[in-house]
Amino acid sequence: MRSNSALRVGLIGAGRMGGQHAGFLARDQGVELVAVADPVDDRIAAEHGARQFTDHRDLLASPGLDAVLVASPNHLHVPMALDCIAAGVPVLLEKPVATSHAAAAELVAAEAAADVPVLVGHHRRHHPAVTAAREIIRSGGIGDLVAVNGTWLTRKDDAYFEQSWRREPGAGVLLINLVHDLDLLRYLCGEITGVQACTSNAVRGYDVEETAAVIVRFAGSAVGSFLISDAVVAPWGWDQATEDDPTFPYRPDGSCYSIAGTRGSLSFPQLAHYYHEGRSDWTQPLSVRFEPKAAGDSYSNQLAHFARVVRGEEEPAVSVADAARTLAVVEAVSRAAGSGVVEPIGAQ
Ligand SMILES: NC(=O)c1ccc[n+]([C@@H]2O[C@H](COP(=O)([O-])OP(=O)(O)OC[C@H]3O[C@@H](n4cnc5c(N)ncnc54)[C@H](O)[C@@H]3O)[C@@H](O)[C@H]2O)c1
Repeated sequence: MRSNSALRVGLIGAGRMGGQHAGFLARDQGVELVAVADPVDDRIAAEHGARQFTDHRDLLASPGLDAVLVASPNHLHVPMALDCIAAGVPVLLEKPVATSHAAAAELVAAEAAADVPVLVGHHRRHHPAVTAAREIIRSGGIGDLVAVNGTWLTRKDDAYFEQSWRREPGAGVLLINLVHDLDLLRYLCGEITGVQACTSNAVRGYDVEETAAVIVRFAGSAVGSFLISDAVVAPWGWDQATEDDPTFPYRPDGSCYSIAGTRGSLSFPQLAHYYHEGRSDWTQPLSVRFEPKAAGDSYSNQLAHFARVVRGEEEPAVSVADAARTLAVVEAVSRAAGSGVVEPIGAQ
């Protein structure tokens, strides 16, 4: 791999997310999109002057490739990442890392056995507000963590569901969207040790869930709740509250997480930090200060981190094993919704 010139990157899967990745690659001087693999769509390759392949194995076998981004449908993530590892090509693999925790296990083993890094695309972990909030929580800035509430409520466009895989089990709001929030809650608030949940598909009636309410227990004594739906009109969720993805109009008054501790609380992503100046009880006025955060967005930071991973300067911030743990939590949510009972999550 060349160390001083732009990394030559291939893209596998040229759909919605692949198109966004191509845009992020185009605005980063340190990387260059040189090849695309997609069996049906050659528009991104044409637009970016990259070579087009219909089979990702031909792309992986082509000369002059430093790294690959995989943005194919979920069920192809594990086999494609295994092919990347076998070809010795570092990979940024879109989330969810697999369609099941069991399916991820094969990839965990392959990654451990080979010296080929895999970064899982839980891009939100790279957001500056996440970095700042984690530091505040971990340093005891709000006291001991007690209660967490989160929301991701929005309405997906009808065209989104024209792709048949999005209407099939495994592509509902749990695995596509809640996986991001549960991953972040693990990162911000600690491991999740148990969940309760109920789900609904009452609006569209597809085979996939579109709405869920989840109760979470964290390691330690904190508890949380999360409400998610892709079938409602509402401003509360990561995508509206951050300016991370220009596809989603920004709502500066939107928020997605309320994180409360014994000495204060944080509203996210604004990082409004509420606390008492003196005596601390509910009759006292709350003070608020807006905590600082660095500039930047998650996708740019994720790509810059991936470039450092490819160059051997950093370990993947989100490993396959780490992402598999988030998947175990999503699966527990699914089981809990089916059973109606509390599902324990054992050591993974
Ligand atoms: N990080 C995020 O926030 C985020 C956001 C959206 C989607 N995603 C993830 O990105 C992935 C793709 O989602 P999408 O919304 O772009 O889906 P999509 O259906 O729009 O695109 C998938 C693309 O993969 C292509 N494809 C199918 N089989 C292929 C194969 N064998 N080889 C190469 N390409 C193949 C399809 O032709 C299509 O162009 C999913 O895993 C999804 O979870 C992540």
